[in-house]
Amino acid sequence: MRVLEIASEAVPFAKTGGLADVAGALPEALAGLGCEVTLVVPAYAEALGKGLPIEPAGIEFDVPIGTGSRRARILRCRREGQRADAYLIANDDLFDRPTLYGGAGDYPDNAERFIFFSRATVELACRLGGPWDILHCHDWQTGLVPAYRRLLYASNPAVANARTVMTIHNMAYQGTFWHWDMLLTGIDWSHFTWREMEFYGQLNLLKTGIVFADAVSTVSPTYAREIQATPGGCGLEGLLASRRDSLVGIVNGIDTSLWNPACDPHLPRAFGENDVEDGKYAARVALAARLGHAAPDARPLVAFVGRLVEQKGITLILDAITKLAGTGRVHFMILGTGGEAEEQSLRRVAAAYPGTIDVVIGFDEGLAHLVQAAADITLVPSRFEPCGLTQLYAQRYGSIPVVRATGGLIDTVVDATPETIRAGSATGFVFQGFDAAGLEHALGRALVAYDDKPAWRRLVGHAMRQDWSWQASGREYVRLFERIRAGA
Ligand code: ADP
Ligand code: GLC
Repeated sequence: MRVLEIASEAVPFAKTGGLADVAGALPEALAGLGCEVTLVVPAYAEALGKGLPIEPAGIEFDVPIGTGSRRARILRCRREGQRADAYLIANDDLFDRPTLYGGAGDYPDNAERFIFFSRATVELACRLGGPWDILHCHDWQTGLVPAYRRLLYASNPAVANARTVMTIHNMAYQGTFWHWDMLLTGIDWSHFTWREMEFYGQLNLLKTGIVFADAVSTVSPTYAREIQATPGGCGLEGLLASRRDSLVGIVNGIDTSLWNPACDPHLPRAFGENDVEDGKYAARVALAARLGHAAPDARPLVAFVGRLVEQKGITLILDAITKLAGTGRVHFMILGTGGEAEEQSLRRVAAAYPGTIDVVIGFDEGLAHLVQAAADITLVPSRFEPCGLTQLYAQRYGSIPVVRATGGLIDTVVDATPETIRAGSATGFVFQGFDAAGLEHALGRALVAYDDKPAWRRLVGHAMRQDWSWQASGREYVRLFERIRAGA
């Protein structure tokens, strides 16, 4: 089965969040299951500046955009040991920029950038030659691909029989733009209706993908249910409910070649379940040095790694840490980047509690690994969470997640109760309502459990033994691909 994976970010080329982890790992997982996989991503400055073996593919063409066109130069990356092929679509005007999507606000031409990327990808699929079986699109940036295949490229033999899958990683980002951007797509205005590409007067690229794709998926079974209702569907709940027969939730895996404490180059010392305490101590020493502390703190380390935005429950974290910092029971470590207001508030609490709250504002892959390895507890108090990867990394690195009961967090963390602890299935602490009291209570339970060392060791062991590798989820994607190829 020939599969084209299309994403606006993928490890190792460029990353702002979990989409990049998924789009980087899934192609390899599918290749391991016998698919012939090609990944397509934009050639951002970030991707080209990493010293990866990227070379011109000898393919160039003009992509129609509105009444004009833009040139696509195709680059190829062949990495040793990788089974999936990767192509990058270059256009320096659009992608040679310091960040992927914008700075304080979005780039004003994001519609044009990703309309170009989507159309160039379909053109590339045609030029690489077919037949393709599956065009697998991720998030709004690729939402036009299913529409292009169906409306403009249906007679091209390379994609004529290809089926399209639209995978939703986050309903909160839909790629909505003013209606005149419809002209850039080259698709007839007759499709600019509430049934297809229009949403409250605007062009909506995620909606377009959901409407035109043969199947729709999202990144956990619970989120698949949540988005068919308010508020999860963010306005598209009716459309998603109408597609319920073609909508599945497949939980993300983790790339165990990159996220494995037994061989993680970002850690000072490898560790596994049997020497987790030594491994964590070494990571704590390295982290303390990195943060400018003379020695690591003996108190439990509670960490958060993620985007500093409303979705992630930063207000809850601020509340909880301000209260708990005064008690002197824990040490907090926060690594993130995002909203200006959130960054400032976090800097303020860190300044108020030096030596108890460490805040690093920035995006630092190596530090994210080190923090997970050093931490005893990882907070994921999200308002909503399509899947979430940090709680999966935390489990693997022996850091116990404290999560809110929403989306993929429900599907991947088992609350520690006397029964689940006895059964050996507990992997974390879960709270229900989106409020600071809920988080504080769950964190309080975790800290009580932490004080019972033998029980804590068992809990950490359960968490570390969970198999979150891509094997099972990759197979579910293959089943989905096979089903839609068979026309079901
Ligand atoms: P989302 O995709 O919503 O941001 P996920 O939990 O799925 O959330 O994935 C987040 C990914 O981004 C993880 O790999 C996490 O380690 C990484 N990440 C988030 N913020 C940072 C940061 N400031 N520095 C390094 N890595 C980060
Ligand atoms: C999104 C979601 C996150 C998910 C990630 C990868 O960014 O917010 O929950 O894990 O995509 O699917």
